[in-house]
Amino acid sequence: MSVLFLRSNCWVNLKMTDKLNLVLIFGGRSGEHAVSLRSAQSVLAALDETKYQVFQVGITTEGLWLYGANAHQAFRDGSFELLQEALILSDDGKPYLYTREGNHLESITPIDVIFPVLHGTFGEDGTIQGLFEIQNCAYVGAGVLGSSVAMDKAVCKHVMRSIGVPVLEYAVFSRREVQADLAETIASAEQVAPYPLFVKPANLGSSVGISKARNREELASALQLAARFDRRILVERGISPREIEISVLGNTEAQCTVPGEIVPGDEFYTYKDKYQSGDPEVAIPAPLPEAQTALLQQYAIDAFKAVDGAGLARVDFLIDKVSGEVYFNEINTMPGFTEISMYPKLWLYSGLSYTELVNRLIELALERKAEQDETIRKFEE
Ligand SMILES: Nc1ncnc2c1ncn2[C@@H]1O[C@H](COP(=O)(O)OP(=O)(O)O)[C@@H](O)[C@H]1O
Ligand SMILES: [Mg+2]
Repeated sequence: MSVLFLRSNCWVNLKMTDKLNLVLIFGGRSGEHAVSLRSAQSVLAALDETKYQVFQVGITTEGLWLYGANAHQAFRDGSFELLQEALILSDDGKPYLYTREGNHLESITPIDVIFPVLHGTFGEDGTIQGLFEIQNCAYVGAGVLGSSVAMDKAVCKHVMRSIGVPVLEYAVFSRREVQADLAETIASAEQVAPYPLFVKPANLGSSVGISKARNREELASALQLAARFDRRILVERGISPREIEISVLGNTEAQCTVPGEIVPGDEFYTYKDKYQSGDPEVAIPAPLPEAQTALLQQYAIDAFKAVDGAGLARVDFLIDKVSGEVYFNEINTMPGFTEISMYPKLWLYSGLSYTELVNRLIELALERKAEQDETIRKFEE
């Protein structure tokens, strides 16, 4: 099969300006496709045209990459006809955005930086980050390891426990165990803690597949439901929680905001509550004693470092309403990023506007790439 490479001259002209060629990627093969479109809309509106030449690439729910000048609007309208299939390839160590028609590839632009505004599977879990690494791209957010460790609720809890960041008691089960011997799995899950128990697929977000089980019957259905969404299932002690979130920004040196608090409208912070019933009530800063705020901030930075976070992360905690104990719940390496999302709102409280935040994330992506490029890849004796 012959593949024809054609370099159009347009990028040469673009390069004459000092703008960064930025590829904005949104959508994705994830339950959070629609959320990503919303986050990307805010990012798109905030990208300074004098600083960036923006190239819009959407990923369909089937995983097809599509490029077009107005790809974002096209994705929102669900009309893909005018878009072209897109791909990223490096040539002599430099990444380019190409479009493809049959065997014909056309270079659209060299890539200076990628902003993947993707949430959940295939976007926030290290898989697409692996592709960026292979093609030698600078990109916003955590790398392969940070993304995948943060995405996996089970591995992430093992890591937090090992560095002394408190987590609720938990156990991990496999889909095979649930399928092969439900009664045995239930018996082991009941060892975790008294009811209620929370059952979660290890690798999803947005509360999909998560249930609160108040008794054995509910535990059985919760395990079976979670096993449909993932091969690995987490069962943990359920508490009546306050929900606290902290935003982290940086690479090796990271800073964090004050904690914010979410007051869920539903019994727990469900998908509906997150995305369908309007904005949950939010308190910034969360009304907490000073010492507890400081402790949570330390845990947030520790968690970010432990997973090798980069760029941004939102670290979520649960505080037991009864005992007042603090627990790490999860770390999101590409948290909801609309202008009214908790992540940027917390930074706004610290004096960093949404636009400044977007600029800083892009700088951090370039700094991280430069730092990575210091690594010796060849070893000669
Ligand atoms: N152990 C728990 N006890 C009480 N509530 C919980 C527990 N785990 C999760 N929840 C509730 O479920 C929501 C979603 O769980 P979470 O682990 O944050 O998954 P997701 O990745 O889907 O956000 C939380 O925001 C919280 O409201
Ligand atoms: Mg959550």
